[in-house]
Amino acid sequence: MQHVHLFETTPRDGLQNEKFILSTEQKLQLVRGLTECGFRKIEVGSFVNPKAVPQMAGTGELFGSLPAVPGVNYYGLIPNRKGYELALAAGCRHMGYVLAVTETMNQRNVRMPVAESFAQLEEIREQARRDGVRLRAYLAVVFHCPFEGPTDLARALEWVRKMADLGVEDICLADTDGNAAPERTALLLDAVRPMLDRMGYPGILSLHLHNTYGYADRNARLALERGIRHFDAATAGLGGCPFVPGAKGNIPTEALVQLCHEEGYATGIDQEKLAGLSRWLVALKEQKLAVGNSR
Ligand code: COA
Ligand code: ZN
Repeated sequence: MQHVHLFETTPRDGLQNEKFILSTEQKLQLVRGLTECGFRKIEVGSFVNPKAVPQMAGTGELFGSLPAVPGVNYYGLIPNRKGYELALAAGCRHMGYVLAVTETMNQRNVRMPVAESFAQLEEIREQARRDGVRLRAYLAVVFHCPFEGPTDLARALEWVRKMADLGVEDICLADTDGNAAPERTALLLDAVRPMLDRMGYPGILSLHLHNTYGYADRNARLALERGIRHFDAATAGLGGCPFVPGAKGNIPTEALVQLCHEEGYATGIDQEKLAGLSRWLVALKEQKLAVGNSR
């Protein structure tokens, strides 16, 4: 049976745009729950300015208390050099670097031109090799940008090529605003895979979907048909980018697991445990919203 690998991002992408904030202890409970469901890659937070994203404050502290579970890797998102240093100091050895492929989105998200983001990534790539850090790269708005419209296919491909040349271990194609119309998703995936094969890229190609416009399910299906075996997802479909107007949730992990199982793929995920964890999280959310964003 073929395996589909799920990258669980609830503690990071799931929480970063919500109107409630989990305490470090509650995040820890969430992460523990995810490991018990069977997830092996969990993005537990981001090393960003807490003034920009208060939901992600305390990620360093969280890294200090994560349960060591054999086979489980914990990821942290980084936006720049400083993020790398903070993550390294916190003991994070799996990092995801975010670079948006349009100028407007990159400026809004990480406050620098795309070329500067790339220059920092090149330095981080070298440093990561020396430090034994594994690096994934998020290509944000690679399908569609909320400010600049549909992303030019050639431009998207060029960025994928750059990431493969750099030798990042995982290239994550992110539909940041959930506006990747399925025919465009198919077009890009059909072009990316042969290009990476020609380059002999040995790493992972991941897909990061959002459900803002209801495209996530169709995109996941067509990606599965095209051989994509790595997907990001968030429990209960929480999430979104704080710098994207009207951003909505990630593809729900539950839905993706269900889809994979229906299509005959193994995920290693216990659906009952996941459903329980999701209920717990949604109840916690409701409770927090009712009392007004308190910890
Ligand atoms: N983590 C924490 N603090 C950081 C940081 C990081 N990765 N990078 C910079 N800072 C701090 C600086 O130390 C400085 O602190 P000070 O005000 O106490 O002196 C302050 O942020 C400003 O530094 P500067 O380099 O001018 O950063 P900036 O204001 O241009 O902001 C980011 C850049 C990336 C840190 C900020 O825009 C950010 O955190 N964005 C969030 C991105 C995000 O999480 N998006 C969603 C996920 S994709
Ligand atoms: Zn996202």
